[in-house]
Amino acid sequence: MAAAALTVARIRPALTWRALDGGLVAGEVSARLRPDARWFVFFDTWRADAYPPLADAVARDVGRDLYITLEDAEFDALDACAAAGFVEHRRESYYRIPTDPAVTGLANAQLPAGLDILSAADADIGRLRLLDDALRQDVPGTQGWRWDPDEFRAETFGPFFDPATYLVAVDQTNGEYAGLVRVWRTRAGPRLGLIAMLAPYRRRGAARALLRRVFGAVAARGATSVVAEVDDTNEASVALLTGLGARRYGGNVELIRRHAPA
Ligand SMILES: CC(C)(COP(=O)(O)OP(=O)(O)OC[C@H]1O[C@@H](n2cnc3c(N)ncnc32)[C@H](O)[C@@H]1OP(=O)(O)O)[C@@H](O)C(=O)NCCC(=O)NCCS
Repeated sequence: MAAAALTVARIRPALTWRALDGGLVAGEVSARLRPDARWFVFFDTWRADAYPPLADAVARDVGRDLYITLEDAEFDALDACAAAGFVEHRRESYYRIPTDPAVTGLANAQLPAGLDILSAADADIGRLRLLDDALRQDVPGTQGWRWDPDEFRAETFGPFFDPATYLVAVDQTNGEYAGLVRVWRTRAGPRLGLIAMLAPYRRRGAARALLRRVFGAVAARGATSVVAEVDDTNEASVALLTGLGARRYGGNVELIRRHAPA
């Protein structure tokens, strides 16, 4: 079936576009604007020839670069996205981190002097949001992130929240929120959502101490490992996690389709 045979229409009011082959649906794509102002698309089609006209329609309507994340072994979808103008932007690896302190070596990891730990449940939600925004500027792939307050609250205190595994490091001298760790209780098991310190507080052992605390809570609930995704260029994070005995078990690739104004 030739791509030229497909017609594409936006389904309003949703951010979804549908490709039609006569009276039959050939595929759909939906788009989401993230808090870092990046448009991510999600294809729902099994026809390779539906990707280019669907991507063209989204690009025309939103007028911005488009992003998509695929598993690195989704070869057919990767080829179809390449034909639709997407190119590789960055890669992440999936790691499984053991929680047993005898394996991680975290048993004696101490919080650096001058820092305290607070559960996110007891933190000021506005200051926590600003900390999250600040930390994301240094995480590959999320630069420019600015949370909407209501969205941040909903995401933080959703079904995956655990007050014992979402901790904030606080500077005793001025009360500044200095960094955080969060492990979500997902259906598939515990997942490290973020471990990050503001730049002045790095390389003093704070990340290891935060991980020691949350891994202890996770292990007490019976989980022997935590999964995480890390950008392959994030040397500090890869060194931190592999230093705990983390093993790579897969990965994904983020693609970008650069907007070319007509
Ligand atoms: C990754 C990060 C959380 C580490 O925090 P930290 O408090 O500095 O880490 P620690 O002091 O506990 O360091 C523990 C180990 O991690 C590794 N590590 C930390 N920073 C490193 C760096 N810049 N380069 C190489 N290895 C590094 C080292 O093995 C270190 O042990 P060592 O100091 O004995 O050599 C911090 O660099 C950060 O916030 N980065 C930006 C946010 C980010 O990318 N987070 C990860 C998202 S998945």
